[in-house]
Amino acid sequence: MAEEPRNQRVPNLTDPLPLSPELIDKLHRLSEKYAAMGQDMGSYLEGLLQADYLTYWDYIHLETLLSLQNPRTPYLDEFIFITYHQTTELYFKLVLHEIRQIASHPSLTAGFFTERMGRVNRYFGILEHSYQVMVEGMDRDQFLSFRMALLPSSGFQSVQFREIEIVSTEFSRLLLNVPAELGSEASAEQLYDYIYWKQGATELATQQKTLTLRQFENRYSQELIRLAGEFRDRNLWRRFLDVQKTGAPTDDLVVQLREFDHRINVRWRLVHLRSAVRYLHKDPDDIKATGGTNWQKYLPPREQQRIFYPDLWSESERNQWGKQA
Ligand code: HEM
Repeated sequence: MAEEPRNQRVPNLTDPLPLSPELIDKLHRLSEKYAAMGQDMGSYLEGLLQADYLTYWDYIHLETLLSLQNPRTPYLDEFIFITYHQTTELYFKLVLHEIRQIASHPSLTAGFFTERMGRVNRYFGILEHSYQVMVEGMDRDQFLSFRMALLPSSGFQSVQFREIEIVSTEFSRLLLNVPAELGSEASAEQLYDYIYWKQGATELATQQKTLTLRQFENRYSQELIRLAGEFRDRNLWRRFLDVQKTGAPTDDLVVQLREFDHRINVRWRLVHLRSAVRYLHKDPDDIKATGGTNWQKYLPPREQQRIFYPDLWSESERNQWGKQA
């Protein structure tokens, strides 16, 4: 916030008003603005007299924001865990904010699309680099203790992560083993049964859906199915094809889309996998015993083979997907 200039004299009520031509012009424009809406400028000026100065803490709701980190256990490192998850969700929100602008732009250009994808990639870059806070930044024994108090919740239930996936690509790219008889006209609701992430939430011991997944589905399936329908024709891939049809050069945009695909589907998933490897039991029998999931088979990008834009990668690049690590 700017400091008040020290040598400026506080105006006295008897001083003549400094009504410069610029100020008079501003008053005229203000009066036109309010008149256009049938409003009286004087009443609004009265409001200005009453209004308090905006403070930083009110503007960003600082006190509310800082009241949201509420660990469930006495382990001090749980505070890092909860705060980092919240930080990540805010970046996911920024990513969605950019993608929605691209999706709904009435006259989308390659330039606008490229610039917005640059922002998305910056956000994912920050998430990738800052993820060391999870991998290195907590005491393992504390983690293993406080995590038991958080079951069955999991980052797996991050609805914003799923929203980013849905708005970024063709829905078919998120599906596995869709029966041929469903055909190309199948609705998002029918296809949702084949969403890939269900594979990551199967209990090793029983081969049943985990409670983590069942709760997530109860809470969010309808919303995600609606979103898939809404973005069927305006997900990022469709918008890329729209821009391509105009004949505009798309080389820079292709660079950004490939970067995004690789960041979300390989690099972020890899750093995240590292945290699971560092903290969680590695022996599948141990996992079985604790009601755990098949995360070792599910999380590695080379196993998932999630690719949003396969047409932008060569065959050998696709064959190498996630294997370089
Ligand atoms: C020490 C830190 C972490 C560990 C050990 C960890 C572990 C796991 C595990 C084991 C899974 C598989 C599903 C399950 O068994 O619950 C998973 C999924 C997931 N986690 Fe984390 N996680 C950590 C931090 C985070 C953070 C900070 C986020 C950010 C929101 C996050 C987001 C996700 C997402 C989106 C999935 C689903 C991934 C997919 O479907 O490919 N995790 N996590």
